[in-house]
Amino acid sequence: MTLAPTHCRPWTRRRSLHLAAAAIAMPTLLLTARAQPNAGRRLTPAQTEGPFYPVAWPTDSDADLLVNGAAARYAKGRAATVEGTLTDAEGRALRGAVVEIWQCDADGHYHHPGDGGRADSTFQGAGRATVDAQGQWRFRTIRPVAYGGRTPHIHLKVRLGTRELLTTQLYIEGEPANERDFLWQRLSVADRAALTVPFMAEPQGGFGARLPIVVAA
Ligand SMILES: [Fe+2]
Repeated sequence: MTLAPTHCRPWTRRRSLHLAAAAIAMPTLLLTARAQPNAGRRLTPAQTEGPFYPVAWPTDSDADLLVNGAAARYAKGRAATVEGTLTDAEGRALRGAVVEIWQCDADGHYHHPGDGGRADSTFQGAGRATVDAQGQWRFRTIRPVAYGGRTPHIHLKVRLGTRELLTTQLYIEGEPANERDFLWQRLSVADRAALTVPFMAEPQGGFGARLPIVVAA
Protein backbone atom coordinates (compact mmCIF):
# COMPACT_ATOMS: atom_id res chain seq x y z
CA MET A 1 0.00 0.00 0.00
CA THR A 2 1.30 3.42 -0.91
CA LEU A 3 0.36 6.79 0.47
CA ALA A 4 -1.15 9.19 -1.94
CA PRO A 5 1.48 11.79 -2.87
CA THR A 6 -1.02 14.57 -2.46
CA HIS A 7 -1.60 13.38 1.13
CA CYS A 8 1.98 12.95 2.32
CA ARG A 9 3.78 15.71 0.47
CA PRO A 10 2.59 18.70 2.56
CA TRP A 11 3.34 16.84 5.86
CA THR A 12 6.79 15.79 4.64
CA ARG A 13 7.63 19.29 3.49
CA ARG A 14 6.49 20.78 6.80
CA ARG A 15 8.49 18.20 8.77
CA SER A 16 11.55 18.84 6.64
CA LEU A 17 11.25 22.55 7.28
CA HIS A 18 11.07 21.89 11.04
CA LEU A 19 14.11 19.64 10.90
CA ALA A 20 16.03 22.20 8.85
CA ALA A 21 15.12 24.93 11.33
CA ALA A 22 16.25 22.75 14.23
CA ALA A 23 19.50 21.94 12.46
CA ILE A 24 20.17 25.65 11.95
CA ALA A 25 19.26 26.48 15.56
CA MET A 26 21.31 23.68 17.16
CA PRO A 27 24.82 25.04 16.51
CA THR A 28 23.70 28.39 17.88
CA LEU A 29 22.47 26.73 21.06
CA LEU A 30 25.69 24.74 21.43
CA LEU A 31 27.81 27.82 20.87
CA THR A 32 25.78 29.75 23.42
CA ALA A 33 26.25 27.03 26.02
CA ARG A 34 29.99 26.76 25.39
CA ALA A 35 30.50 30.52 25.36
CA GLN A 36 29.22 31.00 28.91
CA PRO A 37 32.49 31.76 30.76
CA ASN A 38 31.02 30.97 34.16
CA ALA A 39 29.22 27.85 33.02
CA GLY A 40 31.85 25.72 34.78
CA ARG A 41 34.55 26.93 37.12
CA ARG A 42 34.70 30.41 38.56
CA LEU A 43 37.16 32.66 36.72
CA THR A 44 40.22 33.85 38.63
CA PRO A 45 39.75 37.55 39.42
CA ALA A 46 41.98 40.14 37.74
CA GLN A 47 43.98 42.79 39.57
CA THR A 48 46.10 45.73 38.52
CA GLU A 49 49.49 45.12 36.93
CA GLY A 50 51.10 47.68 39.24
CA PRO A 51 54.07 49.90 38.36
CA PHE A 52 56.84 47.29 38.32
CA TYR A 53 56.15 44.96 35.39
CA PRO A 54 59.60 44.26 33.90
CA VAL A 55 60.72 46.91 31.42
CA ALA A 56 63.12 44.38 29.96
CA TRP A 57 63.07 40.70 30.76
CA PRO A 58 66.32 39.32 32.13
CA THR A 59 68.45 37.12 29.89
CA ASP A 60 67.67 34.38 32.36
CA SER A 61 63.89 34.48 32.55
CA ASP A 62 63.16 30.86 33.38
CA ALA A 63 60.99 29.54 36.19
CA ASP A 64 63.78 29.43 38.81
CA LEU A 65 64.03 32.93 40.26
CA LEU A 66 66.56 31.77 42.87
CA VAL A 67 69.30 31.43 40.24
CA ASN A 68 69.90 34.41 37.98
CA GLY A 69 72.20 33.53 35.11
CA ALA A 70 75.68 32.62 36.30
CA ALA A 71 75.25 34.29 39.71
CA ALA A 72 75.41 32.26 42.88
CA ARG A 73 72.09 31.00 44.18
CA TYR A 74 70.08 33.76 45.88
CA ALA A 75 70.48 33.15 49.61
CA LYS A 76 68.20 35.79 51.12
CA GLY A 77 64.57 35.33 52.02
CA ARG A 78 62.74 32.06 52.42
CA ALA A 79 62.66 29.76 49.41
CA ALA A 80 59.26 28.74 48.09
CA THR A 81 57.80 26.61 45.36
CA VAL A 82 54.83 28.40 43.84
CA GLU A 83 52.85 26.24 41.47
CA GLY A 84 49.38 25.53 40.24
CA THR A 85 47.14 24.74 37.34
CA LEU A 86 45.87 26.76 34.41
CA THR A 87 42.56 25.76 32.89
CA ASP A 88 39.66 27.30 31.05
CA ALA A 89 36.22 27.58 32.64
CA GLU A 90 35.39 24.04 31.56
CA GLY A 91 38.47 22.60 33.25
CA ARG A 92 40.52 22.03 30.10
CA ALA A 93 44.28 22.38 30.55
CA LEU A 94 45.72 25.32 28.59
CA ARG A 95 48.82 23.53 27.38
CA GLY A 96 51.45 25.87 25.96
CA ALA A 97 50.15 28.97 27.72
CA VAL A 98 52.74 30.97 29.66
CA VAL A 99 52.49 32.09 33.28
CA GLU A 100 54.69 35.04 34.20
CA ILE A 101 55.49 36.13 37.74
CA TRP A 102 57.39 39.13 39.06
CA GLN A 103 58.06 40.16 42.64
CA CYS A 104 60.44 42.15 44.84
CA ASP A 105 63.57 40.68 46.39
CA ALA A 106 63.81 39.84 50.09
CA ASP A 107 64.64 43.50 50.84
CA GLY A 108 61.53 44.78 49.06
CA HIS A 109 63.11 45.98 45.79
CA TYR A 110 62.00 45.29 42.21
CA HIS A 111 64.25 45.07 39.17
CA HIS A 112 62.69 48.20 37.73
CA PRO A 113 63.93 51.75 37.09
CA GLY A 114 60.92 53.01 38.99
CA ASP A 115 62.22 51.27 42.10
CA GLY A 116 65.66 52.87 41.86
CA GLY A 117 67.55 49.88 40.45
CA ARG A 118 68.27 48.66 43.98
CA ALA A 119 67.18 45.04 43.56
CA ASP A 120 69.69 42.32 44.31
CA SER A 121 71.25 41.21 41.01
CA THR A 122 71.41 37.61 42.22
CA PHE A 123 67.62 37.46 42.51
CA GLN A 124 66.00 36.92 39.12
CA GLY A 125 62.91 38.91 40.11
CA ALA A 126 60.76 37.74 37.18
CA GLY A 127 60.26 34.47 35.36
CA ARG A 128 58.14 32.52 32.95
CA ALA A 129 56.76 28.98 33.10
CA THR A 130 55.11 27.10 30.25
CA VAL A 131 51.96 25.18 31.10
CA ASP A 132 52.27 21.46 30.44
CA ALA A 133 49.73 19.00 29.02
CA GLN A 134 48.19 18.48 32.46
CA GLY A 135 47.76 22.24 32.91
CA GLN A 136 50.55 22.47 35.50
CA TRP A 137 53.01 25.34 36.00
CA ARG A 138 55.73 25.75 38.66
CA PHE A 139 58.22 28.33 39.94
CA ARG A 140 61.07 28.36 42.45
CA THR A 141 61.23 31.73 44.17
CA ILE A 142 61.02 33.29 47.63
CA ARG A 143 58.04 33.67 49.89
CA PRO A 144 56.99 37.25 49.06
CA VAL A 145 57.70 40.05 51.51
CA ALA A 146 55.99 43.33 52.29
CA TYR A 147 57.26 46.62 50.86
CA GLY A 148 56.09 50.23 50.76
CA GLY A 149 52.73 49.67 52.41
CA ARG A 150 51.87 46.59 50.37
CA THR A 151 51.18 43.22 51.92
CA PRO A 152 53.36 40.36 50.60
CA HIS A 153 52.26 39.41 47.09
CA ILE A 154 53.44 37.96 43.80
CA HIS A 155 52.31 39.46 40.49
CA LEU A 156 51.10 37.07 37.81
CA LYS A 157 50.21 37.37 34.17
CA VAL A 158 48.89 34.67 31.82
CA ARG A 159 49.54 34.72 28.08
CA LEU A 160 48.32 32.37 25.37
CA GLY A 161 50.10 33.09 22.11
CA THR A 162 49.77 36.80 21.50
CA ARG A 163 46.77 37.11 23.81
CA GLU A 164 47.03 38.35 27.39
CA LEU A 165 44.40 36.39 29.32
CA LEU A 166 44.85 37.56 32.90
CA THR A 167 46.84 39.87 35.16
CA THR A 168 46.46 39.40 38.89
CA GLN A 169 48.25 39.05 42.23
CA LEU A 170 48.72 36.17 44.67
CA TYR A 171 48.55 36.68 48.45
CA ILE A 172 49.54 34.68 51.53
CA GLU A 173 46.74 33.18 53.60
CA GLY A 174 46.88 34.28 57.26
CA GLU A 175 49.13 37.27 56.54
CA PRO A 176 48.02 40.02 58.98
CA ALA A 177 49.04 42.81 56.56
CA ASN A 178 46.43 41.63 54.04
CA GLU A 179 43.71 43.41 56.01
CA ARG A 180 45.56 46.74 55.62
CA ASP A 181 46.42 46.35 51.93
CA PHE A 182 44.42 48.69 49.68
CA LEU A 183 44.29 46.22 46.80
CA TRP A 184 43.43 43.17 48.90
CA GLN A 185 40.69 45.20 50.63
CA ARG A 186 39.03 45.85 47.25
CA LEU A 187 38.51 42.13 46.63
CA SER A 188 35.20 40.48 47.42
CA VAL A 189 35.23 37.63 49.92
CA ALA A 190 35.12 35.12 47.07
CA ASP A 191 37.90 36.89 45.16
CA ARG A 192 40.10 37.02 48.27
CA ALA A 193 39.63 33.27 48.64
CA ALA A 194 40.61 32.74 45.01
CA LEU A 195 43.86 34.72 45.26
CA THR A 196 44.97 34.10 48.87
CA VAL A 197 46.66 30.75 49.39
CA PRO A 198 48.55 29.06 52.23
CA PHE A 199 52.34 28.93 52.10
CA MET A 200 52.93 25.58 53.77
CA ALA A 201 56.27 24.69 55.36
CA GLU A 202 57.75 21.75 53.44
CA PRO A 203 59.60 18.83 55.08
CA GLN A 204 62.78 19.56 53.08
CA GLY A 205 62.66 23.26 54.04
CA GLY A 206 61.12 26.29 52.42
CA PHE A 207 57.47 26.73 51.57
CA GLY A 208 54.99 25.45 49.04
CA ALA A 209 51.96 27.27 47.64
CA ARG A 210 49.40 26.23 45.03
CA LEU A 211 47.19 28.52 42.99
CA PRO A 212 44.61 27.13 40.56
CA ILE A 213 44.09 29.69 37.78
CA VAL A 214 40.94 29.64 35.65
CA VAL A 215 40.69 31.92 32.62
CA ALA A 216 38.29 32.52 29.77
CA ALA A 217 40.29 31.24 26.82
FE1 LIG B 1 54.02 44.62 43.74
